Amino acid sequence: MREAVLGLPDQLRWAASLDPGEIPAADTVLVAGMGGSGISGDVATLLAGEAGTFCTVHKGYGLPAWAQTQRPLLVAVSYSGNTEETLSVVEEAAAAGLEGVAVSTGGRLAEVAAAHQWPHLQVPAGLQPRAALGYLAGTVARVLEAAGAAPAQGPALTEAAAVAAELLGPDLTGPAAGLSADLAEGLGDRIALIYGGQGLGAVAAQRWKTQLNENAKWPAFWNVIPELNHNEIVGWGAIPQLTRRDVGIISLRDRGEPARVGRRFELTAEIIAADVGIVGEVSSQGQSILARLISLLVVADALSLELAARKGIDPLPVEPIDKLKRSLA
Ligand code: PA5
Repeated sequence: MREAVLGLPDQLRWAASLDPGEIPAADTVLVAGMGGSGISGDVATLLAGEAGTFCTVHKGYGLPAWAQTQRPLLVAVSYSGNTEETLSVVEEAAAAGLEGVAVSTGGRLAEVAAAHQWPHLQVPAGLQPRAALGYLAGTVARVLEAAGAAPAQGPALTEAAAVAAELLGPDLTGPAAGLSADLAEGLGDRIALIYGGQGLGAVAAQRWKTQLNENAKWPAFWNVIPELNHNEIVGWGAIPQLTRRDVGIISLRDRGEPARVGRRFELTAEIIAADVGIVGEVSSQGQSILARLISLLVVADALSLELAARKGIDPLPVEPIDKLKRSLA
C-alpha cells in the first residue's frame, strides 16, 4: 500500500497523457461506481461543475428514475469490473438505450461494454481499488473532457501530480508524513470525524473517512460545513465526557472555499470545542480543483498508513469487504 500511495503522482501523469478515444458528447453525466471506484464519480462532479455540466454519482443498484427521462451519458467505473451494483446500473442503462462508457481493469464490465459497443477504458491492474484513485479519477476526468462535459484536464492532472509528489516526498519523507505524524499523535485512540467544506471539501472528507476505514481499519466519519451547522453542532452537548475523550475532529480547508464557509469553520470550532476533541486542520495547496483536492487526499493516505503502522496493521487487506462479497456471490 505504501508503494501504491507513492505511485499516485505517476498514476496522475499516466492519466494526463491518456487518449480516451471517441467519447459521445454529453451535457448531463451519471457516474456509477462503488467504494474506491465510486469516489471517482464524486471527483467528476467537481470537474463537471467547472463547465456548468450537471453530473452526479450513483452508488447503488439500478438506474435512477431521472436518468430514464434525462438520458445522461453513463460512465460506469469499477476497478475489478465485477461489482454487482455497478453492473446492475449498466444493464438497466443499456436496456434503456443510454450511451455509456466503461472504466475498469477488465472483468464483466469490459465484456458488457463490448457487447453494447460502449467505449471501454482499461486502467492498469494489480492494485486495491482505493489505491488506483489516480488511474480511475484521472480516466474519468479525461472521459468528461472528451465528452465536452468538463474543461481540459491535462494541465490540472499534471499539476496534481506535481503537488502530490512534493507532499509525499521521496519514500514518504515529504510534508505529508510530518503532518500525518502530528495528526496521528493528536488523534490518539479517538474515532476520527472529518469535516470538509461544501464541494471540494466534502469530496475530500469522504475520501479521508474511507481511507482511514480501509487502510488503518479505523472508525471514521465525515460531515460538511455549512450543513452540519444546522444539526450536528447541537448533538455534542449531551455526553461531552464521552465525545471529548473519544471523538477527534480534523478539518479540511480549501484555499478556494467561500469566505462564509471559512468563517463557519472558525465559529464551529469555538462552539463545539468544549464538547468534542479538536485534532487539527489541513489546508489545500495548488491552483486547479484537482490539485487542491489531491493535496488534501495525499495527507489522508499518509495518515492512514501512519495509523496502521502505529497499530501494527497491514493496510492492504480488507477482509470484511471480501467476506461480504463472497457471502453475496
Ligand atoms: O476499496 C475497496 O476495495 C472497495 O471500496 C471497492 O472499491 C468496492 O467494493 C467496489 O469494487 P470495485 O472498485 O472493484 O468496483
